[in-house]
Amino acid sequence: MTDRYAVIGNPISHSKSPLIHAAFARQTHQSMQYDALLSPLDGFQTTVRHFQQQGGKGMNITVPFKMEAYQLATSLTERATNAQAVNTFKFDQQDIVGDNTDGAGLVRDIECNLGVTLTSKRILLMGAGGAARGVILPILLQHPSLLTIANRTPEKAHVLKHQFDAHGHLLARDYAELCNQRFDIIINATSASLNDTLPDLSPDLFEDVMLVYDMMYGSDLTRFLKYAQQHGAQRLSDGLGMLVEQAAESFFLWRGIRPETQPVISFLKSGL
Ligand code: ATR
Repeated sequence: MTDRYAVIGNPISHSKSPLIHAAFARQTHQSMQYDALLSPLDGFQTTVRHFQQQGGKGMNITVPFKMEAYQLATSLTERATNAQAVNTFKFDQQDIVGDNTDGAGLVRDIECNLGVTLTSKRILLMGAGGAARGVILPILLQHPSLLTIANRTPEKAHVLKHQFDAHGHLLARDYAELCNQRFDIIINATSASLNDTLPDLSPDLFEDVMLVYDMMYGSDLTRFLKYAQQHGAQRLSDGLGMLVEQAAESFFLWRGIRPETQPVISFLKSGL
């Protein structure tokens, strides 16, 4: 029987994960099926259990279920525990192993695909929601000289600073406190681009910044990346590479094989 996997979310029809995993499976000659599964907002647990009982081997979890997935897992990897969110399930008999591959995906995209090392850099991470939380420890493990977490609601940035303080040089700020500060890399982990809005950041922050990264992606530059470009950023990247890299990390967890990501990133870019 073909091993079955799925991405679960609501909405889900826009998800590129089935395309990505089908490409990985072809490339690595794995016999597997990967579908998109729409879960009712109040039926996440039932939908997961049903898929598991039908013989499903694993799942990716997307908006808005990553926190519920964290609660449902019967065991957690260290990176999922730190992120307090789960984007990957591996089913093992009745057990549900919860993992989080988002942070590893971001770090691999920046370091391996874009060739920018995070070590010794001054990094600004914007946002203090689930997306930001999941990438803090993976970034700190690369030993940046400083990681500043900035958020519209600064209290949330302070909570994250306290949680991860032991792992590196961390600061928490609100956006107004950033003026006159210099960063090498700026990463947008807010959901502002989803609503086509911009965080309230001083344009001076972007001047000569080595890399501005938006975790969102689309056929066009996101509004945030356009703003960074207009104000002097040296290099821009959206989150398409991160999407493919986090998928590759999940694929590795399930199949024990690391697929080549570059051809899949190029293929997706050509279709956007
Ligand atoms: P996600 O799981 O995508 O991180 P989330 O947990 O709801 O979603 O967090 C959304 C993040 O985007 C938060 O940091 C939010 O800031 P607040 O904590 O102040 O709400 C941030 N955000 C969303 N829209 C924003 C905007 N227009 N300007 C600045 N920050 C924004």
